[in-house]
Amino acid sequence: ENAQLKDIISHAKEYGFVYPSSEIYDGLQAVYDYGAYGVELKNNLKRLWWETMTRVQENIVGIDAAIFMHPTTWKASGHVDSFNDPMIDNKDSKKRYRADVLVEEHAATFERAGDIEKANSLTGALARLLEAEDLAGVRDLIVNEGIKCPISGTSNWTDVRQFNLMFSTQVGSVAEDASTIYLRPETAQGIFVNFLNVQKTARMKVPFGIAQIGKAFRNEIVARQFIFRMREFEQMEMQFFVRPGTELDWYQKWAETRMKWHLALGTPAAKLRKHDHEKLAHYANAAMDIEFEFPFGFKEVEGIHSRTDFDLKSHQEYSKKKQQYFDPEINQNYIPYVIETSIGADRLFLLTLCNAYTEEKSEEKSRTYLKFHPAIAPVKAAILPLTKKDGLPEKAQEIVDLLKYDFNIIYEDAASIGKRYARQDLIGTPFCIAVDHQTLEDNTVTIRHRDSTEQERVAISELHGRIAEATSF
Ligand code: GAP
Repeated sequence: ENAQLKDIISHAKEYGFVYPSSEIYDGLQAVYDYGAYGVELKNNLKRLWWETMTRVQENIVGIDAAIFMHPTTWKASGHVDSFNDPMIDNKDSKKRYRADVLVEEHAATFERAGDIEKANSLTGALARLLEAEDLAGVRDLIVNEGIKCPISGTSNWTDVRQFNLMFSTQVGSVAEDASTIYLRPETAQGIFVNFLNVQKTARMKVPFGIAQIGKAFRNEIVARQFIFRMREFEQMEMQFFVRPGTELDWYQKWAETRMKWHLALGTPAAKLRKHDHEKLAHYANAAMDIEFEFPFGFKEVEGIHSRTDFDLKSHQEYSKKKQQYFDPEINQNYIPYVIETSIGADRLFLLTLCNAYTEEKSEEKSRTYLKFHPAIAPVKAAILPLTKKDGLPEKAQEIVDLLKYDFNIIYEDAASIGKRYARQDLIGTPFCIAVDHQTLEDNTVTIRHRDSTEQERVAISELHGRIAEATSF
């Protein structure tokens, strides 16, 4: 793993953001838990997304659908038949790999060595074989190229098999009654199956959207890079229902809107790019990713997909229930087309952490701090009495009580003030508020700013307004 990512992972663990799941049992691969500051940061990101979707956009409403869905849902959506990764096992190490990733990584070694032609011919061959579902051909490519298992160093490979990424479980207690259901691999289907419920009960008119935040599960074979690719993760998805024929305009519009959102959150433009899909998923007529430059390269954070009427039409066929909308403006019934924006909350969290992680080294001082936009910082202000006596802690507690109903505030009186500032820097608190003897006389405090480390004297009565202004989005 790359050095910067390593630093970020250990910082996230050390300072209460992300821990490996069930760590006392040595963790569970690709599953993570969020700590005291992590959950605050994640909730802030989710809330900002939710408010942007369901409040700023006046024609979008939210839902919260169940993780378990009727199993036919996943037949209709295409996931039972085509939500697969091609995988291959090495017979010596018994390690399982994604066959396509093995070839792509092999191609990347040629690219790094400057042999772009060879790299392109390999990825081209792979794309053609996958398109033709020629799994034996993919294995031949791996064997002929002499691609070796990184663990055993041999190229003693099994056949390539398709591996469905959905987790399944049983409902019903008696074997005869039990039936297999899946943990949803995307939240989108909960929106599609509720399309008419929401349209009717919330009295929505096309074009309109339905937004949802919730857990999704995928049995990822290649689970690496920390919370970038997890087996249990959270998605924030929005399906926007439009009149057929207008979908590509809406697609462009949503791509721009979502890009602006990322920029407003403070992600530098140079670290973001759009990537159009060459190979489209079974449901799409246009698709792009918004990519962010992670320490391990430009990778997808959010997908914007023009899903046509694929899902609603398929649910209509399988359920035998009409999924049509009557459009009073043109006096027509139709199945709406759908533009989807889909972002992983955990991946946005990783992006935010990578952006915020700052190591400052100069001759006078060196420090590490998390430069979060104040709107998403887990803790907005730390209230720090200079000493533990002379009534300073009581005065500080009064300030905590003044602010705590509107902001996440920390009170801290242990250690030197310098150490306490440094600790708040490490969790990304934008304001440290020091309470000293002068405070008792004139009701002013010192605000110390995280990024500049500058300090200023401010009246206690101004604090609420100052923090509210800085933390609004
Ligand atoms: N409904 C469309 C859909 O699910 P996707 O590109 O498979 O599309 C959308 O996933 C987003 O969900 C991705 O851009 C990513 O942010 C997030 N995501 C997908 N798989 C993930 C995983 N294994 N771990 C973390 N986030 C994931």
